[in-house]
Amino acid sequence: MKAAVINHYGDRNELEVIDTRMPEIQADEVLVENHATSINPIDYKARQGLLKPMFQWQFPVILGWDLAGTIVSVGEQVKGFEVGDAIFARPDIDNLGANGAYAEYTAVKADKLAHKPSNISFEEAAAVPLAALTALQMLRQLKLLSNQKILIQAGAGGVGIYAIQLAKMMGAYVATTAGQVNHEFVKSLGADLVIDYHEYNIQDVLSDFDAVLDTVGDVDGGIAILKPGGHFVTISTTLTDQQKNISNKTVMSGWLTPNGRDLETLAIDIANEDLKIVVDSIYPLTTEGIRQAHERSETHHARGKVVVTIKP
Ligand SMILES: NC(=O)c1ccc[n+]([C@@H]2O[C@H](COP(=O)([O-])OP(=O)(O)OC[C@H]3O[C@@H](n4cnc5c(N)ncnc54)[C@H](OP(=O)(O)O)[C@@H]3O)[C@@H](O)[C@H]2O)c1
Repeated sequence: MKAAVINHYGDRNELEVIDTRMPEIQADEVLVENHATSINPIDYKARQGLLKPMFQWQFPVILGWDLAGTIVSVGEQVKGFEVGDAIFARPDIDNLGANGAYAEYTAVKADKLAHKPSNISFEEAAAVPLAALTALQMLRQLKLLSNQKILIQAGAGGVGIYAIQLAKMMGAYVATTAGQVNHEFVKSLGADLVIDYHEYNIQDVLSDFDAVLDTVGDVDGGIAILKPGGHFVTISTTLTDQQKNISNKTVMSGWLTPNGRDLETLAIDIANEDLKIVVDSIYPLTTEGIRQAHERSETHHARGKVVVTIKP
């Protein structure tokens, strides 16, 4: 099968499309013929070697942890999914690095799958799992309630676009940060207040917030705007012991737990047209295309998600 791999850690020129072995499935897995994948910042961080301490990857490594496609074979223990089903998923990160989503086929544990809503394309579906699951689970970790005030950093980014919409669906007041060019865009997703981060520090303009979802590493700023009893979670940096132990405020790191059940609830929101998907750009699964997709993501200014078409 065709897959985009890296043979060394390094810059985006390490990415190349080659012919490689098809994955084999376990009894609790399905084989997915991928139609599309999407890029997340973890992809270029992994490409650079930042996940080295966590996995025993052997080159060539296939990156990519978002997929949308069609099931072509089903393990004997799998229930609820059949050959021919259109699905999307954030698969597990494989310990050997051989089973990413930048490939024509990926083996996926059945408990990570959800049925693709029929009102969206495979490209749109591939733009959902990792970023939207993160947004949903972080709002839960923040214990966000109706009428509470939340700051969502980087509202125009992959996680931000979903977090704004989900927080509004929960009935919260949402402030977000974005460059001037994205102000109308994030308001169209439901943001009540937009701060231009080039002009203002959040702690100079916001106070008394119940919750902060930090996607940019501004821990001290986020903690400063919380009211007593408020909750802060960062998904983009490590916390110091001092930051973790601020009295009267809950300061946490957050990690996505891939999970088909949560993805099914997001699929319902999408099917009901309550949750919009925003695709920044689409590239083909070619050596040039995957390098350009990483280049776009690494600008840190994609609006929504960068998608790669695998099967047009
Ligand atoms: N822990 C986890 O489980 C987990 C899961 C998902 C993501 N993450 C991490 O979360 C971070 C965000 O991910 P993402 O997918 O949302 O990234 P992304 O899509 O690449 O974010 C791009 C957006 O960030 C905005 N931006 C850039 N610098 C900003 C700043 N200083 N202040 C406010 N907005 C800024 C840009 O808007 P403008 O063009 O308007 O500047 C752009 O729209 C990454 O570090 C990623 O690795 C962690």
